[in-house]
Amino acid sequence: MVMAREQVLRETDCSRPFQEQHIGMTKTLSNLRIDLRTPSPPETQKFIRDHIVRDWATVSWKDVGRPFRVENYASGKRVWEEQNGDTMPVPVSWQKFNRSFHEWFIKDVPTERSRVRRQMIQALSTFKWGEVPDLFTEMQQLALWNLTHRVQDAIWDPRGKRALFQGLQVHRPKILFLGAADGYEAMQLYAMYPGGEAVLVDYDEFCKTDRFGKFPEYYPFLGVNPETGGHRVWYKDQMNTDFMVDDIRNLPFGQEFDIVLSVGLIEHFPDEYKPEAIDFHRRFLKPGGYAILTTPRLQWKSRLFYHVMAEAMNYTYRELMTVQQMGLYLYENGFEILRHGIIKAHNGIVARPR
Ligand SMILES: C[S@@+](CC[C@H](N)C(=O)[O-])C[C@H]1O[C@@H](n2cnc3c(N)ncnc32)[C@H](O)[C@@H]1O
Repeated sequence: MVMAREQVLRETDCSRPFQEQHIGMTKTLSNLRIDLRTPSPPETQKFIRDHIVRDWATVSWKDVGRPFRVENYASGKRVWEEQNGDTMPVPVSWQKFNRSFHEWFIKDVPTERSRVRRQMIQALSTFKWGEVPDLFTEMQQLALWNLTHRVQDAIWDPRGKRALFQGLQVHRPKILFLGAADGYEAMQLYAMYPGGEAVLVDYDEFCKTDRFGKFPEYYPFLGVNPETGGHRVWYKDQMNTDFMVDDIRNLPFGQEFDIVLSVGLIEHFPDEYKPEAIDFHRRFLKPGGYAILTTPRLQWKSRLFYHVMAEAMNYTYRELMTVQQMGLYLYENGFEILRHGIIKAHNGIVARPR
């Protein structure tokens, strides 16, 4: 009996390895970084730069220019289109993207880098020149992925996301995440505003089964302890989440959510579809609710990322934009912009229907 209890405790410790005593630390694991650092006020400013635009009514497309389109597509898209004699349907593009992106998140990066280095030495020392270009590309991708995801943590960017999400006037909010993929940001929001419910929606079933379904149970989210008001570490299995596999255009909800969230969604809709895409962030909100959106930033680092990682990432229509361009889309489509700023790889906006 005693043994069994000890074993349960050990297993619990093992599946939730980071606890209150780890708050303040960051650590690089083989496939990701955990980051439980808490911001002091000046640091908060470092992670999100606010107040770039003071009056959105004065901003025009002539001033801010148009977004940049990423058009170097993955060869898988071209091959599919040649084989099928048709353009790849958008849902199929997302299926390809999600499977490919997921492969990167689960890589043991140091092991993979050693393997490719060994193969390169082998190819060079045996004069197999034909293998060198592909190995070189793989080395570049691994180096960039290591830097972006594992060292800089620019994709999940927990400190940037926490800075963006802070200060919302909500209690036990009902959160809707449109195009949820791995669900990361809904979990970060839930940890900061616990006790409500997060509904994650993505029409690619693989996101439910794998990207979110197999999201590391041991990953710690820094949030709030509702009993003390202080910090607390949250894990995926402690959160009240529901994953729906559905098209965001089919959702059965009324105006019932305190927060509607999307991360990297609206830049995949060409301008003629943007009003509809933006409207999905309004129609399910309670009066006074918040829409929170992020889109990838137009900056040289992002252009480099989508250039080097094209084979993994570029299946879908995608724009890179400035926070001014993103804000103008939202303002033109009837939103009041409460906060706007930039985090590591994305622009972030907290808005409310006007
Ligand atoms: C670019 S991803 C968002 C980025 C995300 N943070 C990630 O890690 O991949 C957009 C997600 O939205 C989903 N999506 C796109 N259009 C959708 C639609 N009409 N209905 C439901 N999900 C959609 C895609 O399947 C994809 O998983």
